[in-house]
Amino acid sequence: MKVLVLVFSLFYVGLADDEINSRYFPKNFKFGVANAAPQIEGGWNEDGKTESIWDHFVHTHPEKIVDRSTLDIACDSYHKYKEDVAMVKAMGLDYYRLSIAWARILPTGYPDKVNQAGVRYYKNLFAELKAVNVEPMVTLYHWDLPQTLEDQLGGWLNETVADLFAEYARLCFELFKDDVKMWITINEPKQVCQAGYGTGYLAPGVVSNGVGEYICARNVILAHAKAYHIYDDEFRATNQGRIAMVIDTSWSEPGSDSEEDQEAAERMLQFTFGLYANPIFIGNWPQVVIDRVAQRSELEGFTSSRLPPFTDEEIAYVKGTYDYLALNHYFTHMANATADSPIGDPSYGNDVSVSTWRRPEWPRGAAEYFSVVPWGLRHLLVWLKKTYGDVEIVITENGLSDNTGIMEDDHRISYFQGYLSACLDAIYEDGVNLSTYTAWSIIDDFEWENGYTFFLGMYYVNFTDPERTRIPRKSASWFTNMVATRCLVDACTE
Ligand code: NOJ
Repeated sequence: MKVLVLVFSLFYVGLADDEINSRYFPKNFKFGVANAAPQIEGGWNEDGKTESIWDHFVHTHPEKIVDRSTLDIACDSYHKYKEDVAMVKAMGLDYYRLSIAWARILPTGYPDKVNQAGVRYYKNLFAELKAVNVEPMVTLYHWDLPQTLEDQLGGWLNETVADLFAEYARLCFELFKDDVKMWITINEPKQVCQAGYGTGYLAPGVVSNGVGEYICARNVILAHAKAYHIYDDEFRATNQGRIAMVIDTSWSEPGSDSEEDQEAAERMLQFTFGLYANPIFIGNWPQVVIDRVAQRSELEGFTSSRLPPFTDEEIAYVKGTYDYLALNHYFTHMANATADSPIGDPSYGNDVSVSTWRRPEWPRGAAEYFSVVPWGLRHLLVWLKKTYGDVEIVITENGLSDNTGIMEDDHRISYFQGYLSACLDAIYEDGVNLSTYTAWSIIDDFEWENGYTFFLGMYYVNFTDPERTRIPRKSASWFTNMVATRCLVDACTE
């Protein structure tokens, strides 16, 4: 295995070497690292916290997690947050991206009982960050809906949950108004909806392909917009912070020069990123999504489109609900048009009608789909600028997964170097307004359906040790040095 990793690293270092941008990062460019409550905190039922859909999912369906693990303890950050903050400080970072667990603050999910112990935990965490001069970047929803709201209301398939999210957001804005200025409403709505309420491989595991995911998408977007307006109307003037939704996408590179494949790559981006970004940045769903889902729905015998429409009032209400564009990005694929599938059961995949593949020479992360293609990020950043205008872009996640957990993680260093170089290219060559880069992740964590078998941390965590000892990998010192020098090579130019 070691030999394989070495070959991988040599290959990739060689590939990236002559492409690394040797300009300094701009003076006001910010660096951070990210993680999320359900993946690191543990303390799943401590001090009044109740079950989230993820706690429930792993407790009731252990077979859905490859190593049958749970989030019960995870990295034990509920008790060891001071160690996490010390690591962030040692790396010289500007930001620490973390999330608040809804069920720790509001154990019933409803705004009826505030759990003071939960509030104290986050207050202490923010105080610790303040003491070392690191700014928190706070996600309000990183996939961990209180299970009560799934049981009683059907979770994100019910619009009432959007109102409840807005109540929870208002409470957090009020509770943490002196601690937090950089807010994120919802993380990766595509995964929340497609994987949670479409294919069902992530919690809550609802299988409703081509139907549930669109209903969920509408509710999640409305939830985001409600929280944005509450922030705008009631807190912005005093908090003076900023708020956005994090949307993720891989880059779709056309599989050939043909018009069909060019269109297919664009269509893929519209069905993944545009589905969530268009309502916020442009207004309404992307036209190609509206047209294709309506057309197939009709042929399938539905009396209206499976994509629930926004009213004119809602379109206006959602449009413009951003202070910056927050992007999670990991990998790239090639995209080819496929012939439309025969009409049958509704399916998101058939609505999109694009086949994806990876070039065999592209290095891989922990899974076959995880292809390491730094130029894909540059293409994506340019596409974002072209599609949504000259908006400030904040990269809220980027990083490499592997399944070895190896400490000499040269392949991760090469990944960061390549992707950060793509950021510099986009800033200096393409004029992209990119202000921030956040690496996923500071520590190994619970990686959803992959449990503790995928490693993305710059710090290794020993999950068999009750102390959950954190030990820096080679990438931690590389990243620390990069942040200090603001440079990706031995010597940089202005
Ligand atoms: C995106 C998600 O936001 C995060 O929770 C996850 O762990 C990373 N991708 C890495 O897989």
